[in-house]
Amino acid sequence: MGRIRLDLARGLAVVFADREAALRRVEEWAERGTRLVKLVFGPEGCGKSAWLRQSAELLRELGFDVLYVNPLQREFLAEVGVSDVRSRLVEILREATAEAWGRAAWALIDLARELIKAGRRRVALLADDIFQAIGLDKAAIYVKGMLGVIEYPPRSYDAVVAVVAAGEGVARREIGRHMWADQYPMWNMSRDGFKQLYDQIPGDKPPFEDVWRLTGGNPRLLGQLYEAGWDVDKVVEMFMRGKELNSPDLFRWRGWLEKAVEDPDVLWTVEAPEGLLDILVERNLVVHNLHDRDPRFWVDAPPPERDPELGVGKYVAWQTPLHREAVRKALGYGLRPI
Ligand SMILES: Nc1ncnc2c1ncn2[C@@H]1O[C@H](COP(=O)(O)OP(=O)(O)O)[C@@H](O)[C@H]1O
Ligand SMILES: [Mg+2]
Repeated sequence: MGRIRLDLARGLAVVFADREAALRRVEEWAERGTRLVKLVFGPEGCGKSAWLRQSAELLRELGFDVLYVNPLQREFLAEVGVSDVRSRLVEILREATAEAWGRAAWALIDLARELIKAGRRRVALLADDIFQAIGLDKAAIYVKGMLGVIEYPPRSYDAVVAVVAAGEGVARREIGRHMWADQYPMWNMSRDGFKQLYDQIPGDKPPFEDVWRLTGGNPRLLGQLYEAGWDVDKVVEMFMRGKELNSPDLFRWRGWLEKAVEDPDVLWTVEAPEGLLDILVERNLVVHNLHDRDPRFWVDAPPPERDPELGVGKYVAWQTPLHREAVRKALGYGLRPI
């Protein structure tokens, strides 16, 4: 399989690294197709989009017609054997407005049906970061639409692979209420995989151990740290401001946050205030429901059972150690402007 090239930071191109298990998972899905839609979620910047783009390449090589759209990054791919389908997508995206990207996300479903109708027998629909573009309230309907392609195709086919990747922890709940999707969490990169990426970074850099402890294997953070000239405080403060961590809705739970910074599992207790976990999930600070580390339920290697140093609990984990650090720092500022 040809490995794709990606921009890890401004002016820093890298080759797609590792994620072997996740790519094998796609090969598995390609064999017989997905019976339900596969919903992949995980920490922001853990590498969902990169993996999905690499999967598009893999599926193409396996003989699939591949439709991929990412409205957030304004990217689409239509490696399809029916030229009309490709030009229809190009037409929709002629005006590059947010609405057009929302339409393109919906078009994925119609165009997949068109491909099957035209006699294509192996079709992949890869929908990446679409929920902001179509509206979170439409998440479940969208997934149902994808399932419709699998269950009620306009013509028989050999395999349909339907994958949705989402950063929003909330989308997961919205979709999980129905039996339309299998959910697969993806975690930050494994230590070995992350090392392969770290080794691609040129110039002076902090020792691998330090970078691992800061990022917990999150590739986006690696890129951000590189761009910031490895100024950790700067990146932590950017996070704190970007996520408005000095807001009253968080500070009313100050005592609990202090505990959660030490051990995120306190959020998964009956004593924890109702709603706090939801707020933290919504703000993309923690991931919950990590109970089972059985690799069958993960798209790639699961996180460790518990790793207090990285902020990984048995039930709840900080998305990365740096997310936790930003909260810790905000607690020091209090409600003052930051
Ligand atoms: N396996 C990988 N190899 C190389 N770079 C990667 C890999 N995974 C992610 N990246 C890079 O890390 C950054 C964040 O990844 P991305 O896929 O956008 O995360 P997500 O979609 O989960 O938010 C991007 O710059 C991406 O190119
Ligand atoms: Mg993404």
